[in-house]
Amino acid sequence: LAAYPEKSITQPPMVMAHRGIPSLKPENTMYAFEEAMKLGVEIIETDVHKTKDGHLVLIHDFDLERTTNGTGKVKDFTLKELRELNANKLDPANPSWYQPEITDAVIPTMDELLEAAKGKAVVILEAKGIGYEKEMAKVIKEHDMVEDVIVSSFSSEVLERFAKFNPELGLGFTLSGTKPKEQLEQYAEKQITDAVQLNAQYYINHQIVTPELIRFAKHRGIILTVYTVNEEADMKRATEAGVGGIITDYAQKLYNTQILP
Ligand code: G3P
Ligand code: CA
Repeated sequence: LAAYPEKSITQPPMVMAHRGIPSLKPENTMYAFEEAMKLGVEIIETDVHKTKDGHLVLIHDFDLERTTNGTGKVKDFTLKELRELNANKLDPANPSWYQPEITDAVIPTMDELLEAAKGKAVVILEAKGIGYEKEMAKVIKEHDMVEDVIVSSFSSEVLERFAKFNPELGLGFTLSGTKPKEQLEQYAEKQITDAVQLNAQYYINHQIVTPELIRFAKHRGIILTVYTVNEEADMKRATEAGVGGIITDYAQKLYNTQILP
């Protein structure tokens, strides 16, 4: 720490693969997670939803349309129904990411990812909804990965529920771009003191990553991370600013360039 008096608690920043590595393989599928692990990423980030019949699955959106050939809401389908969908779809926002040769990508379960990641990578499990914290904790414990998982959320309420039910889990609190200051106050008020990760949105407003925020995190022993940083110049800037982790769709860039010291 003494070597980085103005910087975050982990330097150089850790590489965090957002939704796996969607720039190379379909997002939030086992293809993407395996590819990220092959590269050697330290942390995989993904998004958790609960199915109609109570299973935990990994998909970002609440709706199926953008990333699969299904229609409707994830919560209205059983696991069996969801597993019949193709989870590799061209995203008009990122057409170059499409991998037409992959024909058998499916929506993974949380269970599958933990099984594959055990001993290889830490996993950030972002709960997209509220009310299934206990179920998530149960699966994490079954895999004996309490130490290797951070449960994260934009909602301090969700994190409080995790902390209440399962105090041993590492918490990640995500700040959105528009109101970081208010959210930090909320963080302090609600005393999510166990948070190990504070995740600041980067692309809307680079100014969020101020020396004050870095100090705020460091003095509480929190890893300050930024999301979702995809341009090399921004990766460099974030690294120089002293963040502890970079969440990116392009983990490969952090290995192919001289960005990390
Ligand atoms: O790491 C935080 C980030 O994953 C939150 O945004 O929309 O990609 O889940 P989103
Ligand atoms: Ca996420």
